[in-house]
Amino acid sequence: MAIPTSRTKEKGEIRINEDKCIGCGDCVSVCKDFSLELENGKVKVSSNSVFGCIACGHCMAICPSDAIEIHGRTLSPEDMFELPPLERTSSYDQLLSLYRKRRSVREFVEKEIEPEIIDKIIDAAKTAPMGLPPSDVNLLVIDSKDKVRAFAAEFCEYLEGMKWFVSDWFLTIMRPFWGKENDELFREFVKPLFRIYPGEMKKGVNVVNYDAPLAIYFYGSPYTDPADPIVAATAAMYAAESLGLGTCMLGAIHPLIQNGKKARKFREKYNIRYKSREGLFVIFGYPAVKYRKGIKRTFASVTTIN
Ligand SMILES: Cc1cc2nc3c(=O)[nH]c(=O)nc-3n(C[C@H](O)[C@H](O)[C@H](O)COP(=O)(O)O)c2cc1C
Ligand code: SF4
Ligand code: SF4
Repeated sequence: MAIPTSRTKEKGEIRINEDKCIGCGDCVSVCKDFSLELENGKVKVSSNSVFGCIACGHCMAICPSDAIEIHGRTLSPEDMFELPPLERTSSYDQLLSLYRKRRSVREFVEKEIEPEIIDKIIDAAKTAPMGLPPSDVNLLVIDSKDKVRAFAAEFCEYLEGMKWFVSDWFLTIMRPFWGKENDELFREFVKPLFRIYPGEMKKGVNVVNYDAPLAIYFYGSPYTDPADPIVAATAAMYAAESLGLGTCMLGAIHPLIQNGKKARKFREKYNIRYKSREGLFVIFGYPAVKYRKGIKRTFASVTTIN
């Protein structure tokens, strides 16, 4: 048995070419599954493996002599590539400038996003770390303004059939189960959305996803680490920013399409393959606004252990 994901339930198969192995031990150091050990100056598969090879690929990535190969769990030696030279990676200053200039953008010019740009965003997001390889993040790509708007309109219709979810009687019943903070959030944040989203849509104003020319939904599977879709969405967002696009994360849709029959039907209509604990929409487009100032932000707390 190996750690299961929606994509694979097998272990990675470790193949060692003893003739090429110089016994440096680098692969042994980076294998946190303890799948590898050195014996008589050569690496071999150990009997102390914790989960079975998870196919993280670290051993292949570090080996100086291509002496180790991993096959299975969606990985193979063909997935390895030469690293770009160090001077081509961005500096802290460049990265910080990108982070600091980003603002949530919800106003877009009338221009669709070129398929090559969408590919670039997705390719960059694929590099995101994941709880456990292979990534169990799924993407729904809505790649035109018309499709994005149609999705929002359908979501509004769906919300109108779900009003009981934010009714006083339901929230009162749920309060002992989900607690005071959730109750406050539902009453003060979620409930107004049920009114504002469809209400504005009827006036022709789309505040669900702002008629963006591109929306991508990042979501998991029943196996996914809940953080994974969010980590991937963040990578996509910054990649898009580096390509000159404006972006905005949208957190309100995902939790409202998880539970119940109507939610399942809605997901099925859009080929959303799973319900999942966490998920996030990101919208992208060429910005119609230009922010002139950055905004200093703070964390709720930063505590260092003595
Ligand atoms: C997880 C998450 C969910 C968000 N959901 C929404 C949303 O549903 N609709 C929206 O207009 N903005 C949404 N935003 C954008 C925030 O409102 C925005 O990040 C915040 O106001 C700060 O502005 P800034 O991104 O320009 O710094 C979301 C942002 C995050 C990180
Ligand atoms: S792929 Fe990862 S888990 Fe498997 S042997 Fe290599 S380092 Fe260990
Ligand atoms: S990193 Fe490569 S050369 Fe070094 S011990 Fe492992 S397999 Fe052998």
